Amino acid sequence: MSSLSIVILAAGKGSRMKSAKPKVMHPLAGKSLLEHVITTAKNLKPTSLSVVCGHAAEQVLPLLAREGATAAMQHEQLGTGHAVKMALADFEASDQVLVLYGDVPLTQLSTLEALINSGASDSLRVLTTTLDDPTGYGRIVRNDAGDIICITEQKDADDETLTINEVNSGIMVLPTKWLSQSLNKLSNDNAQGEYYLTDMVALAVAEGVTINSVCCDDSVEVAGVNTRQQLAALERYYQTQQANNLMANGVTLIDPSRIDIRGRVTTGEDITIDINVIFEGVVSLGNNVQVGPNCILKDCVIGDNSIILANSMIDSSTVGEAVNIGPFARLRPGTQLADKAKIGNFVETKNANIGLGSKVNHLSYIGDTDMGRNVNIGAGTITCNYDGANKHRTTIGDNVFIGSDSQLIAPITVEDGATIGAGTTLRKDAIADGLTLTMSSQKTVKNWKRPTKKAK
Ligand code: UD1
Ligand code: CA
Repeated sequence: MSSLSIVILAAGKGSRMKSAKPKVMHPLAGKSLLEHVITTAKNLKPTSLSVVCGHAAEQVLPLLAREGATAAMQHEQLGTGHAVKMALADFEASDQVLVLYGDVPLTQLSTLEALINSGASDSLRVLTTTLDDPTGYGRIVRNDAGDIICITEQKDADDETLTINEVNSGIMVLPTKWLSQSLNKLSNDNAQGEYYLTDMVALAVAEGVTINSVCCDDSVEVAGVNTRQQLAALERYYQTQQANNLMANGVTLIDPSRIDIRGRVTTGEDITIDINVIFEGVVSLGNNVQVGPNCILKDCVIGDNSIILANSMIDSSTVGEAVNIGPFARLRPGTQLADKAKIGNFVETKNANIGLGSKVNHLSYIGDTDMGRNVNIGAGTITCNYDGANKHRTTIGDNVFIGSDSQLIAPITVEDGATIGAGTTLRKDAIADGLTLTMSSQKTVKNWKRPTKKAK
């Protein structure tokens, strides 16, 4: 089998984005454009993967390091042909090289495989598409026999060429040996004064290198992002696909145009998702889960039959079965809710294990806490986990009842079966099965006169 290297071009500024961020680092579905391309590229298992960087490279390099891709520097953006040359040393040893663009994020693996397999490894293979409005793209010029003879850029094209609807996606496979010998033959004698990779096509014709092409039916796969409008259009397209996938897997979406998946969601049966829900990272929803409107679920596992009511946020947490959450609940990282637990409105949890059937129903903060089963936490209870320098844990046993408006000053333990009176500030451990409370005695002033408004 012949070996394949991949080069991703990502050195351009993307002036039309009007951004301090290089274009390829703008996110689509929560992941940078370049990361989408790298993910697809890796699925082809190339012998080498390099990314040509230039403009604001310092913002791109950390991603490449994370992804194990080689950076090839192009300090001046002299054109796509010049860009490929900058990576030559990385791919010279392989038989063929696939050129991808960092600003074309939605190309499918199967399309790239079809392109690679559309000709022998010593042929040049071009991915094209037909567009109703081809403005801005390089046109695929064919002879009467239908063979490609060259690619002409918009700015270099005459009126007749501009009427051609078949355009260059930019994605190409080239035989490495021929490419490395021919790159120096490119000239920048054109409207943009750039070394065009697309000129390799006319060169191939002149030198008898076979040219094959694959026309991609779905132009979205080869759509590049040049403007924020185009970015938004691709985002909507992508989200529509995600929504359709969910519904195909048996999920009810109250409005498929009002859901955003910025990551991956796996689903059980008969899930209902209300409007304006955002999923981030890796989320798993069990059978019969219901998610109310305006919730944000990030990196979490939700067990069967659990209900998440409106306006709740769940981040890096694990939720058991038949749990009720919200409305207006915030589960911060490290929250683990056992089955049948209840977290109500205006409750914040963090690094907290809440036991089977335990309830924190109103207006509480539970942080750095281990809580047993069947605990009832009264409204307004706060675990005071932070002394201004360090965090401390609160331990609450089984069957504990904590009265409303109590503060538990950690480190502290409330033993099994303990009852804490309302309004208690607990500074020492509370013993099992006892009633512990702090009291300030109640006073009454008879016939109390409330202040009245002064006459003006
Ligand atoms: C390019 C193609 C055009 C095609 C279109 C598809 C050429 C000459 N033209 O045009 O035929 O229809 O893409 O979207 O190839 N880049 C570099 N270094 C450079 C120049 C560009 O890394 O010196 C990168 C850019 O960051 C971008 C990609 O190459 O990711 C394409 O460059 P861009 O300037 O957008 O090319 P187009 O004019 O769109
Ligand atoms: Ca472009």
